[in-house]
Amino acid sequence: MNVAAAERVQRSFSRSFPGYHDSAGQQAQIARQLVQRMSDSDAPRAYGSVFEIGCGTGHLTAALHRRFSFENAVLNDLTPEASATACIWGADFLPGDIRNVIWPTRQDLIASTSMIQWLDAPGDIVHHAARSLAPGGWLAISGFGPDQYAELSYLGSRSQAPGLCEPDVLAQAVQAAGDELEVVDLWQDQRKLWFDTPEHVLRHLRKTGVNGRAAHVWTRSTLAAFCENYRRTFATCDGVPLTYHPVWVVARKSGCRTT
Ligand SMILES: C[S@@+](CC[C@H](N)C(=O)[O-])C[C@H]1O[C@@H](n2cnc3c(N)ncnc32)[C@H](O)[C@@H]1O
Repeated sequence: MNVAAAERVQRSFSRSFPGYHDSAGQQAQIARQLVQRMSDSDAPRAYGSVFEIGCGTGHLTAALHRRFSFENAVLNDLTPEASATACIWGADFLPGDIRNVIWPTRQDLIASTSMIQWLDAPGDIVHHAARSLAPGGWLAISGFGPDQYAELSYLGSRSQAPGLCEPDVLAQAVQAAGDELEVVDLWQDQRKLWFDTPEHVLRHLRKTGVNGRAAHVWTRSTLAAFCENYRRTFATCDGVPLTYHPVWVVARKSGCRTT
């Protein structure tokens, strides 16, 4: 993602920030599932430090704090409005593109949901995160697979996030970080949301900041043509679908924890 693309993503999330939390039901569920699987993998209940990447309005932050405790938390996001999330949770805010900021060192937990798909090379950040863990640290990350918004790709939309990847990409990135890293859980899911009309699909995408890559501007006729195409191709008696394809990885680093 070049600088202009990152700025577009940031502007899109800034615009959708006020309504994002209540519109992003899928992202909230994905965050809760990640935390549940950490628990199921016997992740510790208490951590000295946590670093969360792309915290947004805090779906993952809330899910983590409900289940675990932290002495220190640092939350990162490209969108400046996300500093409010850090404020709510008493965390430090690290603003900026995760590829350009200086990461806090030796973290006990590094976590992220629904963010890495915005990176051209999501595996690089997962690898970096795995390498940044303290001994005994845990990594919990989710992104999206290649079938995310399959309907949009099918219709030729170019607004898809650049870093859709199979779960294996996440596992390989962790394993390449060293023998002391172990993938303890790796999974994916596919689900369809149903909307009354393609216009409702577009509204959902706008409210969740997902049109961040769209460099083009809709005109009345391109919008009408897109919606007609969507309806003709996908409409059923239940309405029109939109596919979600989340992928998750949970990993741990061997060694003695200090907390
Ligand atoms: C879909 S939201 C997810 C927010 C939250 N993690 C959740 O699950 O609801 C994606 C967030 O990632 C942030 N983001 C996108 N690209 C980023 C980057 N390169 N560095 C840091 N944050 C980024 C966006 O600003 C946005 O707040």
